[in-house]
Amino acid sequence: TQDVYILAIESSCDDTSAAVLHNDKVLSNVVANQKIHEEYGGVVPELASRAHQQNIVPVVHQALSRANIDKKELSAIAFTRGPGLMGSLLVGTSFAKSLALGLDIPLIEVNHMQAHILAHFIKEPETPMPSFPFLALTISGGHTQIVKVNSHFNMEVIGETIDDAVGEAFDKSAKILGLPYPGGPLVDKYARQGDAKAYPFPKPKVDGLNFSFSGFKTSVLYFIQKETEKDPDFIEKNLNDICASIQQGIINILIDKLKKAVKQTGIKQIAIGGGVSANSGIRDTLKECEKRFGWQTYIPKFEYTTDNAAMIGIVGYYKFLKEDFTDQRITAKARFSI
Ligand code: KG4
Ligand code: ZN
Repeated sequence: TQDVYILAIESSCDDTSAAVLHNDKVLSNVVANQKIHEEYGGVVPELASRAHQQNIVPVVHQALSRANIDKKELSAIAFTRGPGLMGSLLVGTSFAKSLALGLDIPLIEVNHMQAHILAHFIKEPETPMPSFPFLALTISGGHTQIVKVNSHFNMEVIGETIDDAVGEAFDKSAKILGLPYPGGPLVDKYARQGDAKAYPFPKPKVDGLNFSFSGFKTSVLYFIQKETEKDPDFIEKNLNDICASIQQGIINILIDKLKKAVKQTGIKQIAIGGGVSANSGIRDTLKECEKRFGWQTYIPKFEYTTDNAAMIGIVGYYKFLKEDFTDQRITAKARFSI
């Protein structure tokens, strides 16, 4: 077999990341998080693209040096073309094009959502790879999708959110409780000590395999407003139970649709990805589903579930094998379906 070295670049949202892969193994995966957005309670696109511009050169240098690779050894450059924030994507796209041109090596465009799914094919001793076909549930601050994955590059979106992403449901609910951004991990933390049945939240009625989370957030808001009118200390006194109930409400929505997807496709292999797959309640529930419904579930290493360049690199590797290269006229694409 051939030795393929891919340098991968990801800049679709608020993380600047570069990775080096040797075939399907990750040699380095460097992520620079942008702390600047915290005080605004969400990602500010204009600030994100400026931070990418500051971070990209040091992050790429670090990825190369941690991998102990000279840029002359690289076989190709892979980059995120979309979907994402246009200003952010432009930084990674322009950088990748220039570097590929300078080194005179192939350029490979990668779809970020495909990468979240193919992250399961990064070779790691602890995490088994799913076999085809499988269902992928991609859940993060920007995405909520169920995808039927027939092969590496044959994927069908069979369900997705019609409004907010699941991470936004966590973060916006947390904001209503006065928790700092991003609130998802805090809801998870408090939920561990709470009673998930304390305050049942309604499941929105959405057709087929699609999701909706904006109504969920509104029902949390109304509930909290009503209770704090009666008792101003309601949140403080019941934070654990409130968080556990919110988390349970979100899990119920996700599992409900997953069950439908399994029934509809007959596929019981479920692979999850995206930052929200760190949630302990979701992980526990999936383990229960393995026992109760005979599902097989796959969760990649945490560093490959949130936005990262290693997942861009694994797509780059599979495209390199097919010689699926991109020419220098390529432009970033903010809306880009699988
Ligand atoms: O994939 P990611 O790092 O970035 C993108 O949005 O692409 O996902 C971030 C999202 C945020 O909404 C964050 O609150 C949520 O993932 N998150 C969690 C947990 N860890 C991260 N939500 C619930 N429980 C967690 N443990
Ligand atoms: Zn993502």
